[in-house]
Amino acid sequence: MIRLMRPVVIAANWKMHTTPADAGELARAIAARTAEPDVTRVICPPFVCLAAVRDALAGVAPPVAVGAQNVHHELAGAFTGEVSAAMLRGLAEWVIVGHSERRRDAGETDELINRKIRQAKDALLHVILCVGERLDERADGQAEAVVRCQVAGCLAGIEAPSLADRDVVWGDAPWLAIAYEPVWAIGTGRNATGADAAAMADVIRDTLGDLGFAARGETIPVLYGGSVTSANIGEFLAEPAIDGALVGGASLKPDEMAGIVARAALTARARRAGNPTPDAAA
Ligand code: PGA
Repeated sequence: MIRLMRPVVIAANWKMHTTPADAGELARAIAARTAEPDVTRVICPPFVCLAAVRDALAGVAPPVAVGAQNVHHELAGAFTGEVSAAMLRGLAEWVIVGHSERRRDAGETDELINRKIRQAKDALLHVILCVGERLDERADGQAEAVVRCQVAGCLAGIEAPSLADRDVVWGDAPWLAIAYEPVWAIGTGRNATGADAAAMADVIRDTLGDLGFAARGETIPVLYGGSVTSANIGEFLAEPAIDGALVGGASLKPDEMAGIVARAALTARARRAGNPTPDAAA
């Protein structure tokens, strides 16, 4: 079955916050405040909190998926302090790769991120690939070129799972989502505009088409990330090109997540009813 309607995804990136002692309680609080069956919810805590969050969310309905924030590009070996895709099986169903904080602090390149995606896909993890330009690149008029290059480099030579495999192995959730996160908007309180994000989502889809994904009936969600809050999520989800959000700072606050997911549910229900642009009333 080819799914033509893209799911609406809200992913929480907790970054280096929470401990194994408190992460489960926070996850449960967020799950309870965001129980919207039409929205795909993912919580990505630090590695050491994955088991606590998995246990806290076991049996929660509608289900909330658990994601990791990174994965190593090799399957096993002498890599002190690293975590492989195989190790994440049973702990996480999703993984974030290529976050700009890792590109900045760990020197991750598109080539390395490409290898991480291969490992994640082989381990049947759903991937959130982050892309986005820096402020100097935007000022130079290079934003589109940078994002095009990141998408092409990170996905070069990677094939989508077959449609049959997707139904059997990957279930309802997409195997890949792309988060457009302009670096200058992350953690700064200065979000992009909905129109800017939608324009970049078009660039990303165009690039995916060049890579052959569109030809395979792909419906890869494109998320926006960068200072998303319950107050501005409506601006992004009013854009038919935007399929959800990767949320950092606000994702640690159940009240904020409640507002964000409630607004996402409006879009998800409107899409189901055949109207991709509900009023951004929420
Ligand atoms: P922010 O982070 O919402 O705190 O800007 C987003 C992200 O880095 O994924």
